[in-house]
Amino acid sequence: MIRLFVGLDLPPALAERLAGLAAGLPGARRIEPENLHLTLRFIGECDEATATDLDLALTRIEAAPFPLTLTELGLFGDRRRAHTLWRGLAPSPALHQLAHRIEAAVVRLGLPAEPRRFTPHITLARLSSTSPERLQCALALPLSPETLTVESFTLFQSHLSPRGAQYERLVHYPLNGNLSAPGRLSGAATIE
Ligand code: 2AM
Repeated sequence: MIRLFVGLDLPPALAERLAGLAAGLPGARRIEPENLHLTLRFIGECDEATATDLDLALTRIEAAPFPLTLTELGLFGDRRRAHTLWRGLAPSPALHQLAHRIEAAVVRLGLPAEPRRFTPHITLARLSSTSPERLQCALALPLSPETLTVESFTLFQSHLSPRGAQYERLVHYPLNGNLSAPGRLSGAATIE
């Protein structure tokens, strides 16, 4: 079984800047730059046959590249017991449409529908004991505007470990409207 999710990979320089936002925050475990991403659809554990079908289904998704603007920092959990620090995104119909197409493809494969609303964010750190005051300071920091062009989406494998999850990029799917490319997990598969 492999643990999969579909997401957006980030340009390395942007990932470094984002990781810097959570660096040195007491009581926080920041996500290392190479693991930063935006989740479009968490799949969870699945067998290799399903992974191959998923790859083929993702290959068939058609969408054009689109811009994405990163906005404020935010928290999941309540202010006194927040568990996740994230960076948000400006509303993007193209991002929601892409997530919707991925969701539809996943459901067509017979996997259960995602019951939760799509809430796009980039998780920067998991919080355990950061004081609400420190979090307020972090949230109040002025941020440089960041815009990127989304030119592909990615199938990630999540490797869980006590040091936190490591995310391996298995396949990149270019946003070029290519309908006919075969799935890339079959044959010389990148899955170990
Ligand atoms: P998060 O960053 O908001 O925690 C890989 O685990 C990615 O999938 C993470 O970015 C995580 O989002 C997201 N994800 C969504 N639902 C998940 C779930 N039920 N379990 C683990 N990760 C999930």
